[in-house]
Amino acid sequence: MRQVLLTALSLCASVFAQSSTVDTYVTTEAPLAKAGLLANIGASGSKSEGAKAGVVIASPSNVNPNYLYTWTRDSSVVFKYIIDEFTSGADTTLLGQIQNFITAESTLQQVSNPSGTVSSGGLGEPKFNIDETAFTGAWGRPQRDGPALRATAMIGYANWLVKNTSVSNVVSTLWPMIELDLNYVASNWNQSTFDLWEEINSSSFFTTAVQHRALREGAILATTLGQTSVVSNYQTQAANLLCFLQSYWNPTGGYITANTGGGRSGRDANTHLASIHTFDPAAGCDAATFQPCSDRALSSLKVYVDAFRSIYTVNSGVASNAAVATGRYPEDSYMGGSAWFLAVAGVAEQLYDSLIVWKAQGTLNVTSTSLAFFQQFESSVAVGSYASSTATYTTLTAAVKTFADGFLAINAKYTPANGSLSEQFSRNDGTELSAADLTWSYAATLTSFNARAGIASPGWGAAGLVVPSVCQTSGGGGGGSGSAGTVAVTFNVDATTFLGEDIYITGNTDSLQNWSTDSAMILSPANYPIWSITVNVPASSDIQYKYIRKVNGAFESWESDPNNEFQSPASGTFTRNDTWR
Ligand code: NOJ
Ligand code: NOJ
Repeated sequence: MRQVLLTALSLCASVFAQSSTVDTYVTTEAPLAKAGLLANIGASGSKSEGAKAGVVIASPSNVNPNYLYTWTRDSSVVFKYIIDEFTSGADTTLLGQIQNFITAESTLQQVSNPSGTVSSGGLGEPKFNIDETAFTGAWGRPQRDGPALRATAMIGYANWLVKNTSVSNVVSTLWPMIELDLNYVASNWNQSTFDLWEEINSSSFFTTAVQHRALREGAILATTLGQTSVVSNYQTQAANLLCFLQSYWNPTGGYITANTGGGRSGRDANTHLASIHTFDPAAGCDAATFQPCSDRALSSLKVYVDAFRSIYTVNSGVASNAAVATGRYPEDSYMGGSAWFLAVAGVAEQLYDSLIVWKAQGTLNVTSTSLAFFQQFESSVAVGSYASSTATYTTLTAAVKTFADGFLAINAKYTPANGSLSEQFSRNDGTELSAADLTWSYAATLTSFNARAGIASPGWGAAGLVVPSVCQTSGGGGGGSGSAGTVAVTFNVDATTFLGEDIYITGNTDSLQNWSTDSAMILSPANYPIWSITVNVPASSDIQYKYIRKVNGAFESWESDPNNEFQSPASGTFTRNDTWR
């Protein structure tokens, strides 16, 4: 009994010690991280010499690795943080930075680059030179998360502008930029992409999740702005994305598989980063959108964290239910394949986000899917719903808070006294490695601090979404996804339409909806008057199809006879270029 008491007391003491360590870290690191982040934004940032105004450098490191470029992903994640700080009123001095960012991105959107022009795929280019010219070297391109993340950042600012200026102001300034990115997402989401780590060309959970989010909030904004012609297409493609998103869940392994290709286990920071970047406090613990406190996302988080316990020396001797250093994915070897500050902060953030929701809803549910996650903290816990008045709720939420703080304590331990955050810290001894002053490390740290303080960024319409019972289009045009025996066919048709009128396709295969006009699939007008869609159809088959017109979703007319017809190839991709008849 005495032993038990002593153990409990010392546990308490160490928990309190850890929480005060983290309190101290938050207090000292927050201003340093924010200064570090702002130093990497041109033109006036102290470490971003040569960068144009509003251009975010990934890191000042210009050799081994050379990160003196601007990535759309990193910049958008950084500016999402800045825009949230500004629109929430936490820091009203940031408006000029935001305006510079918008100007810089409007230039970058138009820069022709190896992925294409603004209207032929160039928006998927991953990175640019910091003087706003194209980077023309070899690279893993395209990376289709960039336009979605940028749209999400800009939509946050657009929503603020709607409230504080006028709809017409947003329509004429920001909306054209947002629409470019959203149209890109709507027409290309089912094409293969390099993942956020720029290595695997297939379909990627993070990319699909952020694309889904962007189209949902984009459809809401478009409605507010009276841009009704795009709304139904965004909603249709968002529903397709939500459908496809489900396919990454691995029920046997209890985790989200990061990529459809690549030949790895699929346990990857990709997945918890997706949960925090698509957090919507109004969506509760919804598993369809993999919310931070959903059973799937918590189960997946445990599998991911556990993958690093025995492979990093810095984790040796740590209890099997305590926080450890984590990296991108266990098989990683890039720049030593060590721990990443942003991955560790992201774990903490997912847990803090969960605490925000449990507190708001006053209950915590343990399901068979999340049981193993919760049993780490209380081996006797059972599947059930625990109200905030119960001891189980108190025990579990306290344990999750301690677990979360443990991750920040790890980052704290390996952050040097000057507060600088590199990309990685050594799996062997914790010393900083790879790119110094990584802007994204600072942003990830700051957003985790906000979540710890109970601050969530605004939602995006994730509450109550229903997964369609039939997926209209299977994802992943290439790189190992898609079922065997199908080829991705892009249908382009030149068709002039009036406002409210849209072009759909239907045809003689399941994926072409078996000649149904009701479930015919809408094409994207991103390159109007060319309407397009990519559909996986059976390989080596006779494919027949027709385009139809609908007005505000109601059937209007078929193309004239005969059917369009072609023989699909045995493998690869294929394009049909048609003119409406
Ligand atoms: C550079 C990328 O930035 C990094 O993510 C990747 O791991 C390496 N190339 C190796 O492919
Ligand atoms: C490598 C990372 O893998 C990638 O996600 C990031 O965009 C670049 N570094 C720049 O920070």
